[in-house]
Amino acid sequence: MKNLDSMGITAATIGISGLLMALSASPAAAAQDGKAIFDRNCSVCHSVMPPPKTAPPIMPIASRYRQKFTSKADGVARMVSFMKSPSKEKVLADPQAISRFGLMPPVQLSDAELNAVAGWVWDQGASGGWGPGSGQGGRMRRP
Ligand code: HEC
Repeated sequence: MKNLDSMGITAATIGISGLLMALSASPAAAAQDGKAIFDRNCSVCHSVMPPPKTAPPIMPIASRYRQKFTSKADGVARMVSFMKSPSKEKVLADPQAISRFGLMPPVQLSDAELNAVAGWVWDQGASGGWGPGSGQGGRMRRP
């Protein structure tokens, strides 16, 4: 019976990932809906606003990127590169996040989807009071 059970789980997993692939295979949706991509692939770890889940919230990260890059294209490109292969060297938003949460695992998405979701993340930095001097980022104290 154990075998049957695990086969059932595998079949269900394949079913779900097949469905996700079918959804993300639609280029128009992938190009435009960064928010939907975020909800499906990132929100399990990232909240948008504090308090954090198992990763730093998106809005302060986005503000940090906007402080470091003047153009959205540059910020998005850097974020995409980080998501494909996160590393300590590439961390830009919050160097202490790694010791607090661990390094982010690589994201398995197409370039179009990565660009869409990074563009959405960038846009989250536009609103809210996370401007320079708000204490977010490298100098944030750990409890
Ligand atoms: C399994 C959990 C997990 C998932 C899923 C995840 N992240 Fe992360 N992410 C983390 C953690 C932990 C950190 C902080 C440590 C680090 O920077 O590696 C992080 C950091 C980041 C950063 C900051 C990088 C920097 O320069 O400091 C960005 C941007 C980011 N994530 C975006 C995303 C996006 C967009 C997705 C979805 C496509 C995503 N993450 C999915 C866990 C996750």
